[in-house]
Amino acid sequence: MKNVKINLVPGDGIGIDVVREGVKTLEHLAQLDGGIQFEFNHLPWSCEYYLKHGVMMPEDGMKILADCDAILLGAVGFPGVPDSVSAQELLFPIRRGFDQYVNMRPIKRLPGLVSPLVNDTIDFIVVRENSEGEYCSRGRIENDGTPEKTVVQEAVFTQKGCERIMRYAYEYARKNGKHKVLSATKSNALKYSMVFWDQVQEQVAKEYPDIESRKMHIDALTGYFIMHPDQIEVVVASNLFGDILTDLGSAMLGSIGISPSGNINPEGKYPSMFEPIHGSAPDIAGKGIANPLGTLWAVHMMLEQLNLKESADLLMNAICTVLKEGNVRTPDIGGTSTTSEMTDAIINAMK
Ligand code: IPM
Ligand code: MG
Repeated sequence: MKNVKINLVPGDGIGIDVVREGVKTLEHLAQLDGGIQFEFNHLPWSCEYYLKHGVMMPEDGMKILADCDAILLGAVGFPGVPDSVSAQELLFPIRRGFDQYVNMRPIKRLPGLVSPLVNDTIDFIVVRENSEGEYCSRGRIENDGTPEKTVVQEAVFTQKGCERIMRYAYEYARKNGKHKVLSATKSNALKYSMVFWDQVQEQVAKEYPDIESRKMHIDALTGYFIMHPDQIEVVVASNLFGDILTDLGSAMLGSIGISPSGNINPEGKYPSMFEPIHGSAPDIAGKGIANPLGTLWAVHMMLEQLNLKESADLLMNAICTVLKEGNVRTPDIGGTSTTSEMTDAIINAMK
């Protein structure tokens, strides 16, 4: 029996609703397989926890979290606690602390998903830098309380950080039969960070003459996403650009609730963390109508990363079957089904 330990951080809002569905699905997969056993460790770290304890996670949180094979996270953020607190005190410490410097975000229109775009051949991946860049959390406030108040928000781009994410994107392309890597830049306006980002791309690209390398300024790239998604294979982007592009990408599939995100520590020194890309959506929290797909797809990514290929395939096939049949859908993708009805349909489709 293979024992797999998963740390669960449902977080806030619909994060709680969707992680429940992830657990249900994993339990079913274990039952079908017979040879795997999932051990779940439920960690209540969230904005609610913050209001009670004054911190998003306990002091030894990272130590507790490290003891597992993978982490499944829902979403963080809830009214009453500034969004910056939940991100800066829970999400970013995990991503950075576990050196999950790659954030893999597949944007793929599975059969049955209805894109709002005319050109709906959409199947690419955004490789988002996840450890530095615009989200390095550095800066300062000068002359506070005076009319000269000045706020400086820094962005840090290191040789090591840029090189490893570029290389990861090119390697991914090569290993997965992709032929093009497109870098999101803005080197016309950001004369230090993005000029350097471009230089690193050029340097790394030399090692991959078999891959077509391009760059596009982020403003033009948003247009390109809408007009020519069929031309995109692998996008490599900084932390902020990757964040923005992937909400756009998921919306291109019909809903922000669809796409998953894998925060990967490629060296395997620390656990990787999987989550839907959507937020905690307080407006629909607890109503039972959140789309579980983003999380179930994240579970699929997690199973692949854990080398549980059979279960991963079983889950993806079941997701595709249910989407293709089209009878069971949550409201965000045009149906009237509940979160658990959608999950149950996917579970029932596993043969
Ligand atoms: C995401 C989210 C987070 C991010 C927020 C909650 C800080 O938008 O995972 O895409 O920007 O990374
Ligand atoms: Mg985001």
